[in-house]
Amino acid sequence: MNNFTYCNPTRLVFGRGTIARLAEFIPADRRLMITFGGGSVRRNGVYDQVARALEGRDWVEFWGIEPNPSVETVREAVALGREHGVDFLLAVGGGSVIDGTKLIAAGLRYEGDPWEIVERGSATDTVPLATVLTMAATGSEMNSGAVISRQETREKRAFYGNYPLFSVLDPETTISLPKRQIACGLADTFVHVLEQYLTRAGQSRLMDRWAEGILHSVREVALRVLGDAPDYDAAADYMLSATLALNDMIRMGVAQDWATHMIGHELTALHGLTHGATLAIVMCGTMRVLREQKRSKLLQYGERIWGIAEGTEEERIDRAIAATEEFFRSLGLSTRLAEEGIGAETVAEIERRFTASGVRHGEARNVDGAVARQILEACM
Ligand code: NZQ
Ligand code: ZN
Repeated sequence: MNNFTYCNPTRLVFGRGTIARLAEFIPADRRLMITFGGGSVRRNGVYDQVARALEGRDWVEFWGIEPNPSVETVREAVALGREHGVDFLLAVGGGSVIDGTKLIAAGLRYEGDPWEIVERGSATDTVPLATVLTMAATGSEMNSGAVISRQETREKRAFYGNYPLFSVLDPETTISLPKRQIACGLADTFVHVLEQYLTRAGQSRLMDRWAEGILHSVREVALRVLGDAPDYDAAADYMLSATLALNDMIRMGVAQDWATHMIGHELTALHGLTHGATLAIVMCGTMRVLREQKRSKLLQYGERIWGIAEGTEEERIDRAIAATEEFFRSLGLSTRLAEEGIGAETVAEIERRFTASGVRHGEARNVDGAVARQILEACM
């Protein structure tokens, strides 16, 4: 196991009716700005719950943080926050609202353009922020990362801001999600675990078992959270799984991959494809192309997650990859680029972008432009 430092300061407030407790956690003397997406919280009653919980307090509202939040929108929010002397942010929504708000938090304490913070990769100073999460997927409610798009150049890049001070997670808020969003969230959660698990075997028994526990839980509840009848227990297990999948807990002292995510971000930047949908396509391509490097872990994954214990190593790896693809398909997601109308031109553009920036992703730092091309070609 590698050396590591672990410190996750986010207070998790979890369960039915917990939005009502909001005022307990926001200092009364703060100048508060609440940020929202496109309006789902008005339709599902979350906005009213937040407003009731904060009755008697003043706040400024910023609406319109879009899926794959853009720096263009963040600039507007920073200007509004400055105008009102905002010194506390509450993001109410999914990963996009939270990520956008992480850059607003950094932008309020930065003189230059917020995109410079994204380019630098991390923020030095931030306004405190908290969240009310309405969609299980990204883990942004309990981590410091954020992914921001820049529409004018069709880029999408990650940076590190600060952890939310607290996050309120009421699984009932997720019941109103469209099935497609739930499916994309499930794929995102599953792939978050794989990015931290599917490298090489024998690094940490404990990290392996935690990661496998999340994979099993997501598999078990997937069709129940996608079903027509609201199922609180399944929604709760899934919501907590998504948070624990990306809150630093399962990556202590082990190698991490993230090449699938980096390629997926390019597909979103170039085609607007939803984040989880990009991962359901790219993940199996990564497994196919890097099967030698990931051999020991692919065998362990196949056996412990999918019960594949018979046959030669090659057969077992083939079956583990096929089982993964079948899982994504069972969620109703595409697993091939052509199904989303994405072809050779995009593959060439992603290779060009990776090569031009000189990136080398993955646990072995070997996913450059040429390997990204192989991965994408393996999911044609
Ligand atoms: O904008 P509104 O009207 O709120 O609608 C949203 C949006 O259209 C809707 N929605 C959210 N909660 C709902 C709901 N609709 C009905 N009922 C509810 N309860 O769902 C749509 C998608 O929301 P979004 O926030 O975009 O989804 P998600 O949570 O999947 O976030 C995706 C973004 O997070 C980034 C992705 O790249 C993408 O930009 N990620 C952030 C990470 C992080 N910070 O750690 C890690 C991830 O790997 C990911 O990259
Ligand atoms: Zn993700």
